[in-house]
Amino acid sequence: MPTAHDRVTITEVTMDDYPVVHVLWQRGDLWMRPSDGPQATLLKLKRDPGLFLGARDVRGRLVGTVMGGWDGRRAYVYHLAVLPEKRRQGIADALMDELEERFRRLGALKAKTQILVDNVASRAFFTRRGYLREDDCEPWGKELVEGGAPPCR
Ligand SMILES: CC(C)(COP(=O)(O)OP(=O)(O)OC[C@H]1O[C@@H](n2cnc3c(N)ncnc32)[C@H](O)[C@@H]1OP(=O)(O)O)[C@@H](O)C(=O)NCCC(=O)NCCS
Repeated sequence: MPTAHDRVTITEVTMDDYPVVHVLWQRGDLWMRPSDGPQATLLKLKRDPGLFLGARDVRGRLVGTVMGGWDGRRAYVYHLAVLPEKRRQGIADALMDELEERFRRLGALKAKTQILVDNVASRAFFTRRGYLREDDCEPWGKELVEGGAPPCR
């Protein structure tokens, strides 16, 4: 069921939305990686149905998205982005309210995300939502295929 917000409606994103979502990610200042292509996005949608959410304005236009991940132990937040001209209207908050509620319903106890150190807006946004920078551990990674993604992605 769509979730009503005073400016946007939060709905699940499908592969039919992919071309628009991809443009939104690019316009929303996210770095595009091999894991953002159509094949990888379809894999993600099948893995976590119900956690890829979009915010639509009154005309039905997608103005923001967020992608959740749930592995049975941790909940992860990926690719939160709002179109530049639609920011500071509470749209990211509406997306995250719905995503965190869906995480809780799945049994998740904690949500995590990765934020680039120079992303001032995102740091301010997640801090306000109660997310804390965790100093006692650092993200480590290994590329499993050639041309994978650099750190933090
Ligand atoms: C981060 C982002 C998703 C926030 O989206 P948004 O819809 O503008 O956020 P909201 O309007 O829901 O903001 C809620 C609160 O977060 C804080 N906040 C959001 N953007 C902020 C900014 N640029 N500077 C300071 N605080 C900010 C404010 O406290 C804000 O409340 P207020 O407007 O009443 O002061 C948006 O800036 C964006 O798309 N950035 C580019 C993509 C990105 O960096 N994504 C995160 C990847 S980790």
